[in-house]
Amino acid sequence: MKAKILVTGGAGYIGSHTTVELQNAGYEVVILDNLSNSNAEVIDGIERITGIRPAFEKMDMQDKEALRRLFEKHKGIKGVINFAASKAVGESVKKPLLYYRNNLVTMLNLLDLMPEYGVEALVFSSSCTVYGQPDVLPVDETAPIKPALSPYGNTKQICEEIITDTIHAGAPFKSILLRYFNPIGAHPSAEIGELPLGTPQNLLPYITQTAIGVREQLSVFGDDYDTPDGSCIRDYIYVVDLAKAHVKAIERMLENKSQDNVEIFNLGTGKGVSVLELIHTFEEATGVKLRYKIAGRREGDITQVWADPRKANTVLGWKAETSLADTLKSAWNWQLHLREKGIM
Ligand code: NAD
Ligand code: WQD
Repeated sequence: MKAKILVTGGAGYIGSHTTVELQNAGYEVVILDNLSNSNAEVIDGIERITGIRPAFEKMDMQDKEALRRLFEKHKGIKGVINFAASKAVGESVKKPLLYYRNNLVTMLNLLDLMPEYGVEALVFSSSCTVYGQPDVLPVDETAPIKPALSPYGNTKQICEEIITDTIHAGAPFKSILLRYFNPIGAHPSAEIGELPLGTPQNLLPYITQTAIGVREQLSVFGDDYDTPDGSCIRDYIYVVDLAKAHVKAIERMLENKSQDNVEIFNLGTGKGVSVLELIHTFEEATGVKLRYKIAGRREGDITQVWADPRKANTVLGWKAETSLADTLKSAWNWQLHLREKGIM
């Protein structure tokens, strides 16, 4: 058995897929989650996939004493992957204090306690949102950080700065900041996947829910952008590929391969895909026809962004491998699984 890793927000979408990959790679995982945006059955799904039930602590990471008790109970945690956060961009505009409190207090509690318990490595879930609309595409890690477009985006920038300042001040651990592009899809087993509460804000859950008939029609937010087909362009990255990058990041820090105590990697495919291209690839890959209409632009959307993932490819030794068609099929299989179980 390799090192013990704390996965905060491990019952969530990316955390659950990462737990699977960590366990497959031989790590022992402790999950911490308050289930504010997930449910405990995810732990069963992880166990069905890997044959191993991760330790699970239901607790709010804003509670520092509860976090301390967790470190006391699970002695010897060597690394932390910090997924726990509130993540809905629109909600963050309406409830900024909720977002600043949850995303910053949880981070501060962790940074306070990590040195006391000898934790050597921290992976942080950041986002391509820190680049705003980049001046140069594809965007690499040296691109300037643009003013955040939402309180949510701001919490990602601030957390990156807090971690960097803390380590520069001599904190005894390393960190890797992972800037995700647009994570999509579900585990091929369809045991775990994305489960948005209420009406999905993100494109792919809206597509799969429209395809299965929960939503009547998909709105394409704008076809008058300055892109080849007029719709916005993003870099959609398969969640299982993304999960594997976290294992690489933990390995890199625990095996002392980091070149710097804080490193940043973009996690994307390197390929931009438009909304209309995504819709058509979904239809081809699944054989399901989608009802959609062209609607007005969504406020706050940037026109186009895709990653230059070369640093992650060469330095981290990680590459996105799964085709867009297979990724979209996995999302559709997950939606069918939810229907079978009567969840949606
Ligand atoms: P998610 O909501 O599915 O997972 C987050 C988990 O954290 C949830 O299970 C939630 O219950 C838990 N949580 C939230 N606050 C908590 C607290 N105070 N204490 C304990 N648990 C708490 O989200 P996700 O899509 O898996 O995202 C994981 C991380 O990646 C987040 O930090 C998010 O901001 C970041 N990220 C996500 C995306 C994306 O598009 N999904 C893109 C870039 C970055
Ligand atoms: C993708 C594209 C929409 C829904 C957001 C956050 C970002 C990151 C990922 C965490 C856009 C279009 C969408 C719909 C549509 N999260 N769209 N109809 O906006 O790139 O990024 O999630 O860090 O911070 O901002 O992702 O999935 O919402 O949208 O046409 O019903 O799909 O306009 O072009 P986005 P998304």
